[in-house]
Amino acid sequence: MARRFHIRTYGCQMNVHDSQKLTSLLLHAGLEEGPDDETADVLVINTCSIREKAENRLYSDLGELRAWKQARPGRVIGVGGCVAQQEGDTVLRRFGHLDFVFGTHNLRLVPALVAAAEGGERSARTEESRSLERFDLPRRHPDAGSDTPGRAFVTVMEGCDMFCSFCIVPTTRGREISRPAAGILEEARALVEAGVTELTLLGQTVNAYGRHDVRRGRTAAAGTLPFAELLRELDRIPGLRRLRYTSPHPIFFDDELVRAHGELEHLCPHVHLPAQSGSDRVLERMRRRYTAAQLIERAAALRRARPDLVLTTDLIVGHPGESDADFEATLRLVREVGFVDAYSFKYSPRPGTAAAEAAPDERVEPALAQERLERLQALQRDQTLAYHRSRVGQKTTLHLEGESRRPGQVRGRDPQHRVVNVADAPGRLQAGEYLEVEIVEATPHSLIGALIGATPGGVRPDRLDRTLQILPAS
Ligand code: 5AD
Ligand code: SF4
Repeated sequence: MARRFHIRTYGCQMNVHDSQKLTSLLLHAGLEEGPDDETADVLVINTCSIREKAENRLYSDLGELRAWKQARPGRVIGVGGCVAQQEGDTVLRRFGHLDFVFGTHNLRLVPALVAAAEGGERSARTEESRSLERFDLPRRHPDAGSDTPGRAFVTVMEGCDMFCSFCIVPTTRGREISRPAAGILEEARALVEAGVTELTLLGQTVNAYGRHDVRRGRTAAAGTLPFAELLRELDRIPGLRRLRYTSPHPIFFDDELVRAHGELEHLCPHVHLPAQSGSDRVLERMRRRYTAAQLIERAAALRRARPDLVLTTDLIVGHPGESDADFEATLRLVREVGFVDAYSFKYSPRPGTAAAEAAPDERVEPALAQERLERLQALQRDQTLAYHRSRVGQKTTLHLEGESRRPGQVRGRDPQHRVVNVADAPGRLQAGEYLEVEIVEATPHSLIGALIGATPGGVRPDRLDRTLQILPAS
């Protein structure tokens, strides 16, 4: 019987997508995917180090896995992702039962590392590569199931050259590198051909795509395009219904990208626009390279281009040097832009970053940071609910994801990426299909929709082995 692997994934969508790439690579190498740790012979942990809490998870996981490894001879444990990139050999030395470590640029080596581990070899491969080779991966293996049928990620760039004061990503993901457009378009077309209708372009600063090539006048040689043009090309793929990208940086919203939001048929009316702070002083210390006024102007430009556009954001409270007045400026920004949702975090010092070097008297007390976080989240909750309420009575289309947390209901996402639960959906619907609904209720976390109709848009019509019920509005 083939050896079975299982992957535990922590962190951002980039990590989720890396795990998907890894799954495909291991399947191509002849292993089988197992449903859980229990049945697995090979366990891979894909780690995150964006905040200290995420990093600590690896160490507690590894402690517990000693027993897992001993329970059956021949079991193998590998660790990859951002902590692995940072710590490399150190993790291998610290945990004797760990077999291999691979960095964020070394996914392609994993099948060989597994084989070597099965032969008793322990190794760490975390060298940074500046080449485009890492984008040359085999086609998605046919057995690689999707958690979200009809949806797929496509990597367009990796790495980050921004070096924000608080952020470890430039260390763990290395320098910015953009993938040639031809490979992106080919992968996107193949995915759509295979039944995918919603694509999300991925990159640490996704809209910085190709910028170094544009600046150096070598776009043609590198095969990249300005980001807005890449979106235009992708938008034309027949069969594609939704196009998204994440995460952009506010300074790379040029006028062409803003215009694309008004013009491209399939580009969704949602932008995740990480603001981090609303105080110009703090933004400068964070090295974000924009002011609150500039962010507000770009947000307004996006809304002018696309009036139904929803903006969501990331915010940090308690960055070194953040005063009460700075925090108040963040609250004002949240109100002024009218963010519909926010991920907000307490600042967490990361080794080797500029902010971690701040003088002790500039640190914000944890209790104060907690208080600020709670105030910010309370404001955001009110804003989210107000937006949800404004949607009641409107019609929308949702892309079905599967069962809802509410028993008996299905859940999907509307074009604005809001979660919509539907109570009266017929049992025969499957994830990947599109439903027409009317929003009938707003809750703090989601919308409730009533069915108007279903279209078999999530799956190619020739692959539909069932007849869809089109129900009249109830
Ligand atoms: N502390 C707290 N939050 C952080 N983020 C990144 N680094 C840190 C840190 N050191 C947040 C930012 C970023 C999101 C992915 O995580 O808001 O946009
Ligand atoms: Fe981190 Fe800033 Fe790069 Fe985003 S742009 S990944 S916050 S360094």
